[in-house]
Amino acid sequence: MKYVQKLQLEIPEALYKLRRDTRVVAKDGTKEAGEIFRHYVTRSDTKLILNLFPEKIAASVIGVTISNIGPVDVHAHTREKCVVNLYLQASGAKTVFYEGDISPAINYSGGYFTPDISLLTEIESFEAASGDVWILDSTQPHSVIAKENFEDRWALQVYLSTPFHEAVDLLCNR
Ligand SMILES: [Fe+2]
Repeated sequence: MKYVQKLQLEIPEALYKLRRDTRVVAKDGTKEAGEIFRHYVTRSDTKLILNLFPEKIAASVIGVTISNIGPVDVHAHTREKCVVNLYLQASGAKTVFYEGDISPAINYSGGYFTPDISLLTEIESFEAASGDVWILDSTQPHSVIAKENFEDRWALQVYLSTPFHEAVDLLCNR
């Protein structure tokens, strides 16, 4: 796939037990998030998460949150280059990636821009299952669409400053 890849990583049991009722934060820890409710992860829990990754990746982590991810309209991220999602609980949702003209009607807000979906073409999509770990090119427009069996979805999200292809290389060819 072009903008997303499943990683052969097993989520340690301890990470399923992380508190999900902590302060709601944005990706940069400063303010409340919008359609995704991101919760603060403690420093010691962050260490557990970073231990899963090679050193070069761990060094490029610019944020970690535990997130309740609902359906999200098309958007792309302006801060991090890619994100690793460790799906603690997930079913009934499709994440879709798009290509197309993103130049008109760009609205920057809180580290995102929102392209005009009528100018985009769907390129690929994936459905994560509980326990899956996927890396996403968050700079490419994407959305989350709920399906019939949509349930409360939780993921640990690790935001990287490393570009997607470089990060995939480091994670898959170590
Ligand atoms: Fe996103």
